[in-house]
Amino acid sequence: MTRVLLSFSLLAATTFSAQLAHAETPVEILALYKAEAAGTPGFQGFNGARGETFFKSKHGGEWSCSSCHTEHPENEGKHAKTDKLIKPIAPVANAERFTEVKKVAKWFKRNCNDVLDRECTAQEKGDVMTYLISVGTKQAAAPVVVRPVVSAEVPAKPAAKIAAAKPEHKATVKNNCKPNPAASKQAS
Ligand code: HEC
Repeated sequence: MTRVLLSFSLLAATTFSAQLAHAETPVEILALYKAEAAGTPGFQGFNGARGETFFKSKHGGEWSCSSCHTEHPENEGKHAKTDKLIKPIAPVANAERFTEVKKVAKWFKRNCNDVLDRECTAQEKGDVMTYLISVGTKQAAAPVVVRPVVSAEVPAKPAAKIAAAKPEHKATVKNNCKPNPAASKQAS
């Protein structure tokens, strides 16, 4: 573990000095986790489907990753405890995600401890990252199916109601104003 942290900070330091902030891409950071996981006996690569299941499941505690990052990681999340908004965790919706080794390591550590009561393994982090990186490509078309149904029906009804309501409304106003003096004289 110490060796891994050391190699992370060494890589971060060299890259930062060359390019300053936001030095890495998600794929480069994923490669770091792969190098770490490759040292584990039986490692057979990362798997996005397994990462998705991991991300959306509870692990003995109160929360899953999706409790705060939602089941649609391309959407904005909300902190399960403080209600604070969290920018989308999927790189397709937030270009800053997985571009800073230090930040990624810090939040994996904190969030895994919150959800699993331990740190995540390199395998788990790599699976989750593989899933999150893939998210936009798989789901980008999904919301389009829903939208036309909503936007086609909603404007039609209020517009029709307003058009129908206007003449009625004017008529009632006129009736209320005119009849009183004229009608009472003629009646008596
Ligand atoms: C209790 C709420 C909460 C839960 C549960 C949670 N997160 Fe987060 N996560 C946050 C917050 C807050 C941040 C930091 C704010 C930000 O970056 O927008 C964050 C940031 C991250 C980042 C930083 C990514 C980057 O490059 O910016 C990663 C990675 C991450 N979370 C992964 C996970 C994983 C994996 C799990 C499940 C094991 C998880 N989170 C569960 C709240 C949560």
